[in-house]
Amino acid sequence: MGIKVLKTCTELQSHVRKLKSANNTIGMVPTMGALHAGHLSLVKYAIEVTDETIVTIFVNPTQFAEGEDLDKYPKTFEADLEKLAYLNVPTVFAPSNDEMYPPGCSTRIVPADVSRPLEGEFRPTHFGGVVTIVLKLLNLTGADKAFFGQKDFQQVMVVKQMVADLNLATEIVACPIVRESDGLALSSRNVYLSKDERVRSLALRKTLGHFKKMISLGERDAQALMSEMQQMLIDNGVSSIDYAVVANPNSLQAYDQIEFPVVALIAARVGATRLIDNCLIESG
Ligand code: PAF
Repeated sequence: MGIKVLKTCTELQSHVRKLKSANNTIGMVPTMGALHAGHLSLVKYAIEVTDETIVTIFVNPTQFAEGEDLDKYPKTFEADLEKLAYLNVPTVFAPSNDEMYPPGCSTRIVPADVSRPLEGEFRPTHFGGVVTIVLKLLNLTGADKAFFGQKDFQQVMVVKQMVADLNLATEIVACPIVRESDGLALSSRNVYLSKDERVRSLALRKTLGHFKKMISLGERDAQALMSEMQQMLIDNGVSSIDYAVVANPNSLQAYDQIEFPVVALIAARVGATRLIDNCLIESG
C-alpha cells in the first residue's frame, strides 16, 4: 500500500475517525519537513509503539519571527515522502498555510512560563507559534502519543506543560538526540553550513563533552562551568553565543552549585546559522 498524503483538515479528521472507530492508537510525529535521521528515529519509534503513525509536514510560519529563515527553510518534500514510504509510514499530513491558518484564524496560545528564558529571550514569539500549531495538530490527529526530539529540549518542556495545563490526553514522548558520526546534532538547518562552518559547528559538541568531563571530575561551581563553556565555544570558532548555561532540567532555573539532574544548553551562531544542542546528566 502506498503512502497516503492528506492535504486538508477535513480529510485528516475523517481518516482519524476511521482509525479510532477501529480502536487504533495513533502516534503523531510533527515535523517541518527536510527530514533527516533524527526525524526518522522518531518515526521508527512511533511505528513501534502505536498502531498508526501520522507524520505531519508543515513549515509553521507563526513560529518564525521577522528576519528569521522562514523563506529559505529547506524544502525537500518528494525526498521526505520517499524516506517515509521506505519506513512504511501509512499517512502524511501536509497542509498548506491557508489550510492551517485560513483568513480570520487569529486565536493564539500563550506558552507556559518555562518558554521565557533561553530560547524565549532570543526568540520571544517562537514558542507561541509552536504551541499554537502543536495544539492544532494534536486536535486534528487525536494522537495518543506525540514524538519530539530532545535536541529541542526547551520545546519538549513547553509542549509538555501545555498538554498538562490544557488537560490534553496525548502523551508527549521525548526521544534521544541523533548525531552525525563526528558528534554534530542533526538539524534541518545544518544544510546552511559551509565546509568551514561545518568544521566549526563541532564547537557545540566539544563544549558539551567538556561539560560532561568537568562534572565527572567533580566540578560543581555553575559559574565556573559556564565560563569554561563560553570560552571553549569561542576558541573553537563559533561566531556568537546566545546562551551557554547549566540548569535544572525540570525548571530551567540556573544552579549556583550543580545538583542532579543537570542539563547544559547551548545556542550559538556559526556564520549566520543558529545551532542548538544540549547534554543532560541524570546523576553524579
Ligand atoms: O520541532 C519542530 O520541527 C517544530 O517546532 C514543530 C514541533 C514541528 C512545530 O512546528
